[in-house]
Amino acid sequence: MTTHDVCIDAMALSDVELLTNGAYAPLTSFMNEADYTSCVARMRLTDGSIWSLPITLPIDAHTASRVRTGDVLHLRYGSVVYAKMTVEDVYTPDKRQEALLVYATDDVQHPGVHKLMTRPNVYVGGRVERVHDMPDRPFASYYFDPQETKAHFAARKWKTIVGFQTRNPVHRAHEYIQKCALEIVDGLFLNPLVGETKSDDISADVRMRSYEVLLQKYYPHDRVMLGVFPAAMRYAGPREAVFHALVRRNYGCTHFIVGRDHAGVGNYYGTYDAQRIFDAFSVDELGITPMFFEHSFYCRACGNMASTKTCPHDSTHRLILSGTKVREMLAAGIVPPPEFSRREVIEVLISGMAGEHI
Ligand code: ADX
Repeated sequence: MTTHDVCIDAMALSDVELLTNGAYAPLTSFMNEADYTSCVARMRLTDGSIWSLPITLPIDAHTASRVRTGDVLHLRYGSVVYAKMTVEDVYTPDKRQEALLVYATDDVQHPGVHKLMTRPNVYVGGRVERVHDMPDRPFASYYFDPQETKAHFAARKWKTIVGFQTRNPVHRAHEYIQKCALEIVDGLFLNPLVGETKSDDISADVRMRSYEVLLQKYYPHDRVMLGVFPAAMRYAGPREAVFHALVRRNYGCTHFIVGRDHAGVGNYYGTYDAQRIFDAFSVDELGITPMFFEHSFYCRACGNMASTKTCPHDSTHRLILSGTKVREMLAAGIVPPPEFSRREVIEVLISGMAGEHI
């Protein structure tokens, strides 16, 4: 048995955290070849449990050539070894096939495919054991392990909890679908993704400040919990929606919101593809109930928030702004209307983004 020192990237470090804290259950290993192949081909692990995204550890070909089954890898990020991993196997994936099946495209303009293709080309599978705490990070008080979120929900006597994934500020459309869901369940778990995102997404630090100010003013405190999801964003649309739901199940949620183009990017996925993918699974098997919402917006003719399901008016009455458009407006000092985003949120975004690339 040989020990190897392996430098990992930020995405692998976030996977180490989530593999070892129960968020990825039943997965506790970087996938071996059999689980990887099964996941890519049929969205299940070899034991049959649903798992829609590969969780893999790519290593460079030189190190890979020296690694054998049974060896131990010290997974290092910067100067710290965060985990030890016992090697099950070393394999070379067909990345194009992975891209086509997981991302539905092999276009390297797609940020998830780009990331896939730029990481090293050999994967190593095996069980991971954490040996060091995660690094200090901003908003540390919002990091919870699944046991902690479950304990919080129980302490608040919530029996039904809806999880909300986001990589954006919470605009009025997000708020609308969250509150529609909250009309039905006991509690809302606002669970923004704060791992790696593409460079033109709004940074997690700025978003966190915007969530705090929004919750303070517009949400009932005894019905909402804010906690971060440290995973990297894959932009895999439908496949990532299933993954997002499974992880929120592990955090203790009973319901999960899937809206328009969940985890999508550009025009790679249809508006409701990330909802349709759930037809392949029963709620029993998923262990969480998806709550689907159609495209939501403020309608001037309705005089309130609505969706394509509930609004009879045509697009001329609807206030719809893309993320790109909003970033352009903020960069040009134009304040989006309050029907699109709360004034307090916009103020945080403008001041927070002043020094950032937007
Ligand atoms: S995501 O990549 O994390 O899905 P985003 O933060 O924009 O992106 O979306 C968070 C959740 O809100 C997703 O479930 C998404 O489908 C939903 N959503 C975002 N905007 C709208 C909208 N205008 N109408 C309905 N659902 C929306």
